Amino acid sequence: MSSNDPDIVCNTSDNPHFQEVLSQSLSNPARRGLLRGGLGLAGLAMLPGCASLVAPTAAASPSLGFTAVEKSLLDNVMLPPGYQYTVLHATGDALDSALPAFSNKGIEADDWARRVGDHHDGMDIYYIDAQGQYSDKETGRAVLCVNHESSADSHFLHPNGQTSNGVSGKKFDQFGSWDLGVRPELEVLKEINLHGVSIVEIVKSAQGWRIQQDSPLNRRITPQTPARISGPRAYIEGIRSHMVTRWDTSGSMSRGTLNNCGHGKTPWGTYLGCEENWAYYFQSTAGAALSANDVASLKRYGLASAPVAAGVTKSNSQGWHTVSATDDRFSRWNLAALGANAEKDFRNEANTFGFIVEIDPLNPNATPAKRTVMGRFAHEAAVCGVPKAGEPLAFYMGCDSRNEYIYKFVSQAVWDPRDVGGGMAAGDKYLSEGKLYVAKFNADGTGEWLELTLADTRIASYGAFKFSSQSDVYVQTRHAADAVGATKMDRPEWGAVNHRNGEIYFSLTNNSAVNRTPAKVDAANPRAYMDLDGIKSSGNPNGHIIRFKESALRATSKTFAWDIFLFGAEEDMGDANMSGLTAQNAFSSPDGLWFSKVTGICWIQTDDGAYTDETNCMMLAAIPGQVGDGSKVTIKNKMVINGSEQTGTQETFLGAALGEAKLRRFLVAPKGSEVTGITETADGRTLFVNIQHPGELSKPLSSGVAPQSTWPGQQGYGPAGRPRSATIVITRKDGGLIGL
Ligand code: FEO
Ligand code: CA
Ligand code: CA
Ligand code: CA
Repeated sequence: MSSNDPDIVCNTSDNPHFQEVLSQSLSNPARRGLLRGGLGLAGLAMLPGCASLVAPTAAASPSLGFTAVEKSLLDNVMLPPGYQYTVLHATGDALDSALPAFSNKGIEADDWARRVGDHHDGMDIYYIDAQGQYSDKETGRAVLCVNHESSADSHFLHPNGQTSNGVSGKKFDQFGSWDLGVRPELEVLKEINLHGVSIVEIVKSAQGWRIQQDSPLNRRITPQTPARISGPRAYIEGIRSHMVTRWDTSGSMSRGTLNNCGHGKTPWGTYLGCEENWAYYFQSTAGAALSANDVASLKRYGLASAPVAAGVTKSNSQGWHTVSATDDRFSRWNLAALGANAEKDFRNEANTFGFIVEIDPLNPNATPAKRTVMGRFAHEAAVCGVPKAGEPLAFYMGCDSRNEYIYKFVSQAVWDPRDVGGGMAAGDKYLSEGKLYVAKFNADGTGEWLELTLADTRIASYGAFKFSSQSDVYVQTRHAADAVGATKMDRPEWGAVNHRNGEIYFSLTNNSAVNRTPAKVDAANPRAYMDLDGIKSSGNPNGHIIRFKESALRATSKTFAWDIFLFGAEEDMGDANMSGLTAQNAFSSPDGLWFSKVTGICWIQTDDGAYTDETNCMMLAAIPGQVGDGSKVTIKNKMVINGSEQTGTQETFLGAALGEAKLRRFLVAPKGSEVTGITETADGRTLFVNIQHPGELSKPLSSGVAPQSTWPGQQGYGPAGRPRSATIVITRKDGGLIGL
């Protein structure tokens, strides 16, 4: 997502922010006693959710071995001394040598289904062995899957910017309004097809990794690629009934994937694209009256802002539907009830988005599958816990909007390592049947997984949306989570698993002053403060990272223990700088989050708009401890609201301070970009990182003002001029392990 996003809040449920739960639990003497002495291992063993902790060994804790990178406002990728980067691929690069090289002037034809997409985001690597099969061992030949999230900078991909009402040179805000009027067909086709996933073969040579043009494995999944609707056997027909459209009246197939943000990699070797802000591509012109349930669904998913008697209108799409009312490539983006029934229009089209989409990177003939059992929301990423043979798998998933939730899917099938390389058949085995949960973070440092099932009377009797079957839960997951009282979080972004102890981390990127004030905080989202220098924002503008440990380290656990790993802050923020950050490791708005299996480093990437007066977005390396290695702390909150100062305190649990020895800035990105997407080679000596939307704050092309960024062209990659998103390859000049 871009950092200048609006206040996206579709959660108007009255789920508690824990104030009352907090005061109750702080009177719990057992917990209080533990906290007073810090969370030692002996104490932790007594906590619910901490039944079988393993003491960390000093030998398992590596040390960072690079010089911290200074804050930077330069238009380049800044790395520590001794490190270097090259560009692997950038927006518009051709997958086939038959295509013209990318112009960087916006003059391409409708050929983006064979070019690298825009807004590089989550990604992963899939090695190919000598038999052409999937391998998790390094082979020198691989496929790299990259999500292409957004068309927010697509003004750079047309000759003179975007066009509406016949006027070119514009720059639409993905989340804002645009001038109504018919959009040009070619512009819209480019914008549609630059989304999705790129699957590109890469090979290692003496010069490092490069893409293999013309590989039969090269392909694009775009918003037009057919995908099957998969789900639990008992409920799939009910699920598909919500997806009936003019294009497929059975609802068993949908077209494509959209706004893929973070990602997941399955233990059997497939890729999970995650559909995040898909709601912002749809328009609803006036149409027939909708049912109360349909209106409730549109509102809760950000597809309509107000209940209406007949038709729903909003104007924050990209206007793709305006090209044609009869050509389904365009009319599908209009949700209005224009036909006699759902088989005659696209009123249900939005129900086909908001899922985890499984893709087999090594089988170009495999049809992607939407895994409905994992729920429908603004999926940021999907991280699999450490697999254990003979036990179910757990996937952890965030819903990235302010005040949304963290979810867990637990497979019915138990893990069998012989399924490695099993492709979509293995996906059907593990991602069709299972249980879906949502997280509730209690004020005493414990948490609960609340199952989303119609057997829960809170869901069966929910008022804001009437559930009639379990099928509805998979399509209206946000409503079900509201019904059971999940915890509203400060925008869950990526999750990550610490492979060394099985703990799960989640970025909570930030929240606004509308949602967080000293009176509206809770133990898991405890800060409300003002940034008093530079960009002056309030709420929780710098975000934090929370982590949790499942009880008994089991995928199936219903309880967990949590604490806050790190609070983002500027180094000069006083009380708000709870993690003691310095100029060498201060950061804001954590987003990408990922652990190296080789080094154990926790990599933190930022998508920020609060600290960017002092530094561009960045990536940091952290050496984490474990849940409970810190102490109970009291946050002092202070904000000015409507001219009057409000203060308050909030108690929470904060992990051990890392200091500069265990937390350092490793990379600072070009102007106007976010850092997102990361993976490594199996030897830990090459890191792939994505730089998304350099030059995001550029003026429209019609302004005549030079773009904010010209990366990577001016640094020698491809035609100079307009900025491009890209995957970079980072190595150490001496060939050593990255970060140590
Ligand atoms: Fe697409 Fe949540 O960032
Ligand atoms: Ca993100
Ligand atoms: Ca500031
Ligand atoms: Ca400052």
